[in-house]
Amino acid sequence: MPGKPKYYLTTPIYYTNGLPHIGHTYSTIVCDTIRRYKRMRGYDVVMTTGTDEHGVNVERSAKKAGVPESEFVAKMAAEWRALWDELGVQGDEFIRTTDLKHAHTVQWLFKQCRDNGLVYPGHYTGQYCIYDNAYVDVKPGENCPDCGRPTETVTEANFYFKLSVFQKPLLDWYAKHPDFIQPEARRNEVLSFVEGGLRDLSITRTSIRWGIPVPGEEPHVFYVWFDALTAYLSAVGGPQYEKTGYWPADLHLVGKEIIRFHAVYWPAFLMAAGLPLPKQVWAHGWLLMDSAKMSKSLGNVVRPRPIVHVLGMDALRYYLLRETVFGQDGNFSYDALVQRYNSDLANGLGNLASRTAAMIEKNCGGKIPKPSALQLQDTALATKAQEAIGEVLEQYDKLGFSLALEEIWSLIAATDKYLTTEHPWSLGENEADQQRRATILWTTAEVLRIATALTHPVLPESTTKVWSLLGQPVQVGSFPLDGLRWGQIVPGTPLGKSQPLFPRIEKAEAIERMEAMENEAQEQPSPVTAPAAASTPTAGGAATAAAPAAAEKIGIEDFAKVEMRVGQIKTAERIVGADKLLKLTVDIGTEIRQICAGIAQYYEPEKLIGRKVAVVVNLAPRKLRGVESNGMIVAATVGPEGRPVLAGFPDEDVEIGARLK
Ligand code: MSP
Repeated sequence: MPGKPKYYLTTPIYYTNGLPHIGHTYSTIVCDTIRRYKRMRGYDVVMTTGTDEHGVNVERSAKKAGVPESEFVAKMAAEWRALWDELGVQGDEFIRTTDLKHAHTVQWLFKQCRDNGLVYPGHYTGQYCIYDNAYVDVKPGENCPDCGRPTETVTEANFYFKLSVFQKPLLDWYAKHPDFIQPEARRNEVLSFVEGGLRDLSITRTSIRWGIPVPGEEPHVFYVWFDALTAYLSAVGGPQYEKTGYWPADLHLVGKEIIRFHAVYWPAFLMAAGLPLPKQVWAHGWLLMDSAKMSKSLGNVVRPRPIVHVLGMDALRYYLLRETVFGQDGNFSYDALVQRYNSDLANGLGNLASRTAAMIEKNCGGKIPKPSALQLQDTALATKAQEAIGEVLEQYDKLGFSLALEEIWSLIAATDKYLTTEHPWSLGENEADQQRRATILWTTAEVLRIATALTHPVLPESTTKVWSLLGQPVQVGSFPLDGLRWGQIVPGTPLGKSQPLFPRIEKAEAIERMEAMENEAQEQPSPVTAPAAASTPTAGGAATAAAPAAAEKIGIEDFAKVEMRVGQIKTAERIVGADKLLKLTVDIGTEIRQICAGIAQYYEPEKLIGRKVAVVVNLAPRKLRGVESNGMIVAATVGPEGRPVLAGFPDEDVEIGARLK
């Protein structure tokens, strides 16, 4: 028997210099919905999401937090992952760009491009936007034309990718695959960009330290977009992608501002390496708040957690997919969110499910009743339900989520109306009335079953409850939508346990609670803060740019990034309010540095004067207990209490400033 067809889709991988807001959540929820839908259509689906962890922006955020980059990104990646779990997102692969397997894939892809003669060394001077990670075509002092934030002048040696030679191959590809870029407006935008001519693209950086090293070409590290795009491939086998069988991707789902990277650069890199191209790139619009794109720098972000806490994850998923026409921008408002929750979820699906179950419980002994001959009103509803199946699947296939949901909710509304006109509650106890009531309730339960199966990709949590309430045997998520037909609900099936669905909520109260949580969250410190000032001076992770996880081996080139020199302590004093810290001034040959060290409990300050020590000199400065520390004194950590013992040079009179290798 042939296996299931494979389907591979991806979310963008998210920058770790901030935490998710509902704009990011939107990209992920859409992908998760497609993933669930495709599974129900019989596909063997893999969905990749993850975190984009390199670049100067992360380098600076880590510095600001006073922790090594590796520690910073690990904590942030954990936050992103936890949020997706809370939102019921079923990512199959969570790729981090600091994963070793990813670094190997990036290095391999670069080699393929270089071996094929499509990479050459050069220099670049230009304005760089650290927020978008891109050189931009503006003069020094001008802001980024895309995000409006300040640019910086950067001059550096780099390797160039011959993007210019891909103009024709890309245009040919777009012509041959008219659905490659969706929606139409984005396709036109990309076409005119490529038709306007392509300039070669610098794909390595020497001005940044925190990145994947270009093998044999240090200090070059990869440009973050060359690095990040490749995550889609590393997640499904990297160089061995043929073994897993998921490449090429069926769908890259992205926000509209990153379409160019996905629809121009990425296919060009893949062509250069001789690899198959993804089948489609779909760019969705933005969630706007007060008519501006939600973004941390504008301070207009809405976080998903308060919404999930007050209304549940399905409410957020429903609102995002129902309110915005996929592909266009949409405005976020708490008011509309709670409105939708009450009208569509509490009064719509929730109410239909609970009253159907209550009537079956009361009148039919808690089992799906057996219908008698259907009347015209019953068959009219049956026809509507059957037609809805076809219409909804067609809309899902086109990613027309709002229309799909509109169709399902029109079926729910028709069923409410049907119940009102047929009013089974006012029928009597004679046999004819009992039969009629059984027919009405069977019909209602059947519509509910169909609506539930169709809504599952969007509302995974609540539809699972309704499905079991209807006593259905398999998990709704594994129900094959291709086999969904009117008339399949089996009379005699006992109802399952009733569980709360969407309790109605007073709008003002709900908004107040969500806003209060949002404000509270904004006052919380970032999940990544500087380690306690008392940590030992050998704080781990120093200078581990792009280094693999702690236990893994590093190459000599990684070690070479840590610059250690012999220093001599000139002054040492205690810091008021910090029992474990000493403030030292250290001569490192070229300058006198101020360094804080967590050794105060073990070394008398006055006995340290004149002592020669090993100093890490190229560590980014940070503040410990408000005191600037510019470098790190190396010490062994001894015993269970972690007593620091300074590394030194007792046998030889070594020169101050000598480098340690
Ligand atoms: N790291 C890059 C993507 C690399 S993919 C190889 C990046 N990250 S991001 O965190 O800035 O954005 C990730 C996604 O979130 C993008 O699809 C972006 O469009 C989406 N959103 C961020 N803010 C958004 C809104 N306000 N509205 C809708 N989506 C937006 O770009």
